Amino acid sequence: MEQVLDIAYAEKQRREQSIQMVHKILEERYDHQPLAYVHSFGCQQNVSDGEKIMGLLAQMGYGFTQSQDEADLILYNTCAVRENAETRVFGNVGALKKLKKEKPGLLLCLCGCMMQQKQVVEKIQTSYPFVDIIFGTHALHTLPQLLHTKLTTSQRHVISVEEQENQIVEGLPTRREGSIKAWLPIMYGCDNFCTYCIVPYVRGREKSRMPQDILAEARELMAQGYKEITLLGQNVNSYGKGLEPAVNFSKLLRMLNEIEGDFRIRFMTSHPKDCTRELLDTIRDCDKVCNHIHLPVQSGSNRILREMNRHYTKEDYLALIDYARKNIPDVAFSSDIIVGFPGETREDFLETLELIRQVGYERLYTFIYSPRTGTKAATMADPVPAAEKSAWMQELLELQGELGQESFEKMVGRSWRVLVEGEGKTEGTLTGRTESNVIVDFKAPKSLIGQFATVKVTKAMKWAVLGELIEK
Ligand code: 5AD
Ligand code: SF4
Repeated sequence: MEQVLDIAYAEKQRREQSIQMVHKILEERYDHQPLAYVHSFGCQQNVSDGEKIMGLLAQMGYGFTQSQDEADLILYNTCAVRENAETRVFGNVGALKKLKKEKPGLLLCLCGCMMQQKQVVEKIQTSYPFVDIIFGTHALHTLPQLLHTKLTTSQRHVISVEEQENQIVEGLPTRREGSIKAWLPIMYGCDNFCTYCIVPYVRGREKSRMPQDILAEARELMAQGYKEITLLGQNVNSYGKGLEPAVNFSKLLRMLNEIEGDFRIRFMTSHPKDCTRELLDTIRDCDKVCNHIHLPVQSGSNRILREMNRHYTKEDYLALIDYARKNIPDVAFSSDIIVGFPGETREDFLETLELIRQVGYERLYTFIYSPRTGTKAATMADPVPAAEKSAWMQELLELQGELGQESFEKMVGRSWRVLVEGEGKTEGTLTGRTESNVIVDFKAPKSLIGQFATVKVTKAMKWAVLGELIEK
């Protein structure tokens, strides 16, 4: 333990020295405050990493811009989960060539999940040689050292993409994007190896943060006036594995719920195989923990679930939903669905539609299966043509459109507590979310933004509800 602390301390010293050195170099190099453009693709974990990257850049002296043309440093924090996310990144990087030519001092950085894949890094080195810094998910905290190397040597590419296991770096600065809702990572990596998924390969094995670090960060967020925290992890339900003294996700939720203040706790993502009755009871018991569970089922066919290595059956899943519905008032569910997994038949797909009807999700995140190099599913026979998969997807979306609206209809006439997040789409309206994560638009003064309000729902739309403010 002592040795680990020594390494962490030495690492922190190195990082802080590099921050100071880069700060000085930037002051000499620019006659203005250098500006960074940072874009995170993909999931909330990536957005949260992006906030740490921005925290480090700010400490080195960077300001931020939304315009690539104005930027002195452009950084893409990439996502590898599906091919279209990767294609988008390559397209954007290709377009930077012209910008780099016009402004040779422009620094281009690529990081995140895509950079943990060998074939991607090779492609960048050969096809996009104008990229300056490449680093993977394990090297985020070394950005100051990498930038320092780039600024002080003639190295064309500065690359750091090694896997470093079991290392959680605490104490990184964070520049959060919002002031009402905050992301709070509680663990990193994934041990599950669902056969379609690249995440365990690019983010490494599961590592949980110590509860005291999470609690300290949550308390700080409350002191800063945040009204909602979302705990993040690839599988929050297995939080705490390997930690001493023993702790699990339910215990962590109960500890967070004790923090004083009027705020909400959300979490994602829950894996159904680790979703216990204890956790569902905890959600019921803790007033700050939202009664909304994102519980990705992926498929309603037991055969496909087995092929996906999900470790639960449709029946196990439905039993969980049933227990939650009986025990947690107004509980709502959302899910991820993959359409067109290798070997999926029309019958399998119809089982997914049937399950969706049975559960009645508040919202679905739907994806057409995308083969990922290095995963088991990428080697499986996949005979269904793309056009047929798209047609299935369309059917799924239509069904969910109807079911979502039906579940919203049930809200009409009742009053709901809403966290007001900002202005709505139409003039004079605000938008917020109920505890069950439903979007509510209603007329109210802007001064309510960032506050809780009580709203009576008057109308159900396809993806949201409309309401009237009844109380401040
Ligand atoms: N193809 C399609 N969807 C995928 N997901 C993960 N990997 C793939 C893939 N190869 C989806 C799953 C997961 C969500 C974050 O992304 O539904 O829950
Ligand atoms: Fe991917 Fe499965 Fe891990 Fe989620 S639980 S990140 S889908 S391997």
